[in-house]
Amino acid sequence: MNEEQRLASQQVNQPKPTNAKPEKDYSQYFERVITAPSLKDAKKRGKEEVKYHKDFNIDEEFLAMGNGRKFFIRTYGCQMNEHDSEVMAGIFMQLGYEPTDRIEEADVVLLNTCAIRENAENKVFGELGYLLKYKRQNPELLIGVCGCMSQEESVVNKILTTYQHVDMVFGTHNIHRLPHILKEAYMSKEMVIEVWSKEGDVIENLPKQRNGAIKAWVNIMYGCDKFCTYCIVPYTRGKERSRRPDEIIQEVRELAAQGYQEIMLLGQNVNAYGKDFGDIEYRLGDLMDELRKIDIPRIRFTTSHPRDFDDHLIEVLAKGGNLVEHIHLPVQSGSNDILKIMARKYTREHFLELVRKIKVAIPDVALTTDIIVGYPNETEEQFQETIDLYREVGFEMAFTYIYSPREGTPAAKMNDNVPQEVKKERLHRLNAVVEEFSAAALKQFEGQVVEVLVEGSSKKRDDVLAGYTRKNKLVNFDGPKELVGHLVKVKILEAKSYSLRGEFVEVVHRHGVEV
Ligand code: SAH
Ligand code: SF4
Ligand code: F3S
Repeated sequence: MNEEQRLASQQVNQPKPTNAKPEKDYSQYFERVITAPSLKDAKKRGKEEVKYHKDFNIDEEFLAMGNGRKFFIRTYGCQMNEHDSEVMAGIFMQLGYEPTDRIEEADVVLLNTCAIRENAENKVFGELGYLLKYKRQNPELLIGVCGCMSQEESVVNKILTTYQHVDMVFGTHNIHRLPHILKEAYMSKEMVIEVWSKEGDVIENLPKQRNGAIKAWVNIMYGCDKFCTYCIVPYTRGKERSRRPDEIIQEVRELAAQGYQEIMLLGQNVNAYGKDFGDIEYRLGDLMDELRKIDIPRIRFTTSHPRDFDDHLIEVLAKGGNLVEHIHLPVQSGSNDILKIMARKYTREHFLELVRKIKVAIPDVALTTDIIVGYPNETEEQFQETIDLYREVGFEMAFTYIYSPREGTPAAKMNDNVPQEVKKERLHRLNAVVEEFSAAALKQFEGQVVEVLVEGSSKKRDDVLAGYTRKNKLVNFDGPKELVGHLVKVKILEAKSYSLRGEFVEVVHRHGVEV
């Protein structure tokens, strides 16, 4: 019996009720439940060893399943989820399904969900309600929910009671099981649920149907062990586990050979890369030092945690070349008290020192960040410390959020004396500062010639092109659509509020690349 069969068989006849109080008798469903999620189990760390599976393949019995059928995937949340959708699309295609971007022609609809904030979840519940219409029109339609929300017990309970037109729910550790889950769903009239709360494995050789041929995402690690007190991710994505360097380097080489121009390395906490290797001393700095030798114009990574950002990484990034001078470094708050109750495990001073070191090594660096306002009991002074820190660092852009309590996390149990109105007002004030700095950062480019990776033309006019600079600034300029997919030089004429407007200068000729 292999590991998957063992896990499945353990659970088949003894489905575990979830911790949340059932509002309804679920026994009719539990016959079909293979595994239900448990946030408590998801929190355990270190008991299970990470297993590397290199031999993913699809059994012959599944191969014709998708013939004549179409799939539609809607993705919410972060780039990791986007990339998971590419993997699921890859599996669908191997099963013979064709992609469609119209729900009404789909035979399978998957919602790949995000649990990071309440409004992210509400969007999904809204969409699920809306999908009922399609199910009524076509009772053969399969509707599936996957991604981070399916790792939450309360969500699975709610789907069982309120969204009974859903046919399958599967978790972030079960993506490779898609062929089995689909088969179960075709054979059964009841909801198929397969959500492992395990710590997670690393599965190589999964097929990928990438979106576009210019930029590609590459996972370097999975999961998160940081357990910031507000965050659901460590529960939904399992423990930190790194892909082996040779697998990553090989994948990037192949993407370079296929003509991709930019790679985004992905992980919830990429600076923890390699910490889990028992046999080698190899960290993100070492990986970047290898990747920079590959002939591909740009390599980025996201997201870095300030705590694990080490000197060697800074030293390697300072070598430049295809390692771009843009670092996304979420700070969350400028107040030591708030950072402490967030369990971020660094202080304002530590963060500023890190920024200082980065700026000394990479003087031209663009820093961007994430910030949460309205943490439980955040005072006006503590909020001001965040604004002050923002100004002191001079971030060029930020994603800003009002704190959203997530069930099962420590912060959700904290009393909170900050009214929602105050939180909204703080977000508003912070955003005004963010905009002031973004505009100033864009203004600096006026008159300069920048390198732009052209990603597409405007929907309305073929000759209006758009692309991004190394520092991730959006640039629009006039030029022929044949330039899409190429690196070009553009002279910036004008800074707008959120983008730059320029004129085409010339194509950047790289070694071995002809235009
Ligand atoms: N791993 C990344 C963050 C991933 S989540 C990191 O640590 O930097 C992306 C962002 O969502 C976080 O940086 C944080 O700013 C925000 N976020 C996470 N949980 C949140 C919550 N409960 N409420 C509001 N914002 C949250
Ligand atoms: Fe969430 Fe913190 Fe992990 Fe980022 S580092 S994913 S904020 S727990
Ligand atoms: Fe959302 Fe999960 Fe990403 S919670 S932000 S989709 S890791």
